[in-house]
Amino acid sequence: MDKLHIEGGVALEGEITISGAKNAALPILCAGLLTADTLALDNVPDLRDIGTTLALLQRMGMHAERETGGRVRLRADRIHSQEAPYELVKTMRASILVLGPLLARFGQARVSLPGGCAIGQRPVDQHIKGLAAMGARIRIEHGFVVAQAERLRGASILTDMVTVTGTENLMMAAALAEGRTVLENAACEPEVVDLAEVLIAMGARIEGHGTDRIVIEGVDSLHGATHRIVPDRIEAGTFLCAVAAAGGRVTLRDVAPRTMGAILDKLADAGLAIECGEDWIRASMDGRPRATSFRTSEYPGFPTDMQAQVMALNTLAEGTAVITENIFENRYMHVQELCRMGADIDIDGHTAVVTGVPELSGATVMATDLRASASLVIAGLAARGQTTVERIYHLDRGYERMEAKLQALGARIQRIR
Ligand code: EPU
Repeated sequence: MDKLHIEGGVALEGEITISGAKNAALPILCAGLLTADTLALDNVPDLRDIGTTLALLQRMGMHAERETGGRVRLRADRIHSQEAPYELVKTMRASILVLGPLLARFGQARVSLPGGCAIGQRPVDQHIKGLAAMGARIRIEHGFVVAQAERLRGASILTDMVTVTGTENLMMAAALAEGRTVLENAACEPEVVDLAEVLIAMGARIEGHGTDRIVIEGVDSLHGATHRIVPDRIEAGTFLCAVAAAGGRVTLRDVAPRTMGAILDKLADAGLAIECGEDWIRASMDGRPRATSFRTSEYPGFPTDMQAQVMALNTLAEGTAVITENIFENRYMHVQELCRMGADIDIDGHTAVVTGVPELSGATVMATDLRASASLVIAGLAARGQTTVERIYHLDRGYERMEAKLQALGARIQRIR
């Protein structure tokens, strides 16, 4: 299994390009199931989760071609299977995003239920509740969600909590349902907005995306479209944390600062000097970061997907930070590993108290999820001595060529195969 070797203590200098957002690309690839025409996508990141999704779609009969420069062309004119098997779903929970599109276009779907995962239980009851409200007959059988409907009907759906992929699944299903669907307590994340924009380009009638009330007037069919995936705000935030922790001066290109309000706000609070244009960010850091407390919440609040990285930054800060994780019940797996590098962190339930130390020392560390692994890379870049991050297949799920981008900024980082 691949590892990363990092020689810490080198300030980061230079310019990199941010990739398209994983969490926008995943639902948008699944939206390709909603039409028999071609969906052409640009800025699709080259990630393991994208490969898994394409493999899943191809197994159903989707014609999927990856071209150079992040373009993917999809054509779902010969779908012969409406099933998502356990082997694929267990490696990537986002596979549940085929449920809404399959049911809406083909009237049936059989999707393996994802199990619990490293960061929490993550049930999909709200996806099921919403589709049932739209008239689907759903049963759980042999570990699969088995759903059928002649044609979905529009419905008023209030989800018990804000769910990102739940909102996306229901929005895709409602696009082809008969009549009007109103999603209340909908997720406002930029990735949900990006999906809504693709669906609109495909002929869907959607209003209110980006707010907590999305109204969808179902149409009989959707057509092909071309779309560029929104930049990855979490990848961009991760690189900014790396500069804030290791010091230096970097420019990020092809980024969307308008989607990064809470992240930029916290990093500025930590002492990172930030300048932004429409699609670029320049950031520099001198000296030690300041402690910055935060609570994770739904967009536009501070994202849970940045919690581990900003915690890594706080381990080196002047002062004490209080961090509360409100979205997932078990998203502190990086804490023990950061402590092995010399961090001072106390956990009490959902709250972590991080007392900054002047220096971390390199160690061999390992994490069991994507963002936790990113936090260990950040700690390694700032630490004294050598850090080895093991099991980096987690990183490869969500960061495109992370080590190459860090090398371009002068970091001493190597992938060991
Ligand atoms: N929840 C339920 N029932 C449901 C759906 C959600 O109880 O039917 C709970 C979850 O267990 C969680 C909360 O609601 O406690 C919010 O979960 P949500 O459904 O919003 O998460 P998700 O859609 O499964 C997406 C991202 C995650 C990101 C979360 C929160 C994708 C593919 N994944 O997951 O991304 O952390 O939203 O913003 O969009 C990552 O990229 O590292 C990642 C984990």
